[in-house]
Amino acid sequence: MMATLIFLALFLLALFLALRPLFGPKEPFPEPPRREEFLRELEVLKEEVKALEGEEKKLALARIVALERALEGWRPPKPSSLRPLPLAILLGAVALLGVGLWQYTLPRLPGETTVAVFRVEEARELRALAERARRTGSPEDLLAWGRKAYELEVYEQAAEAYLELLRKEPTNVEAVRRVGILFFMSGLPEARLFLEIAQHADPEAAEGWLFLGNLYFQEGRYGEAIAAWERYLETGGEARERVQGLIAMARAQAQRGKDGRGVYQAHCAACHGAAGEGGVGPRLKGNPVLRVREAVREIVLEGRGTMPAVPLSQEELEALLDYLESL
Ligand code: HEC
Repeated sequence: MMATLIFLALFLLALFLALRPLFGPKEPFPEPPRREEFLRELEVLKEEVKALEGEEKKLALARIVALERALEGWRPPKPSSLRPLPLAILLGAVALLGVGLWQYTLPRLPGETTVAVFRVEEARELRALAERARRTGSPEDLLAWGRKAYELEVYEQAAEAYLELLRKEPTNVEAVRRVGILFFMSGLPEARLFLEIAQHADPEAAEGWLFLGNLYFQEGRYGEAIAAWERYLETGGEARERVQGLIAMARAQAQRGKDGRGVYQAHCAACHGAAGEGGVGPRLKGNPVLRVREAVREIVLEGRGTMPAVPLSQEELEALLDYLESL
């Protein structure tokens, strides 16, 4: 009886969701339709330009650049992935399945599987550890709480525990390292200081090297990232294959970046500034034209206005374009 009622409720909810668009207030007409038109035109042009040659190609590229400029900073919001009808069907299916399982197979509540029990137990353990640590405030209890929370990926609690531990024991290396890792996950710039201090104090802690490498990589310091990841492997880090992949990627990136920057310094910097800030030639840093690879290729190889053509090999050009995109 209960099951039938729940099923009915879910079915009605699903029906409601499916029909809502028909009854809801009309969406206001989307503001300036020009942007949408621009975007559509941009898409078509980018497709077409591949087949064009000579003067026509130039015109098309110029138009693409103009469109990118007009659209600067604006991209349509991602369409919502919640479509009412499939959602309704899904809900219906889930409800049916649930009722079926409940009535005919499992002698307990739906959802009460062994996995759920396991989680409940761990959550209970974590709660007990948290309560004790908050009550006693002793470093050992804080450490036990922080470790459990970190292990269960309950990161807010891990941060609370380790930060409190740091207040009590500022030299606790594990706390310094874990706080560094948690800061890194939240994108806080202090992460670097914490991780560097921790790895200096305890160079045998593999996980610290992993995150320090990630951090350096994010900052574009590939050499240091590679060194940190190598330390991770030396100290017995477990994610060997993944980290070896990361090292290879950083090596390739470092090579290309170096090459691209070299080409830029040799052939462009005199007019466009050492960091693309502009000079005789216009500013390139943040210039929307850089988003249109084809257009930049054309400008470099053929020149434009008072800018001379710069003959480059295919390889140099690709590395340069990569570098310009990173400006
Ligand atoms: C001798 C000076 C000089 C050199 C060298 C030079 N440029 Fe230019 N560049 C200019 C000038 C001047 C313009 C503006 C041309 C115009 O629109 O009339 C320009 C325009 C551009 C533009 C278009 C910018 C925009 O906003 O439309 C790009 C992209 C560009 N240069 C990239 C490069 C790259 C990449 C290199 C190196 C391979 C390079 N330039 C080398 C002087 C130079």
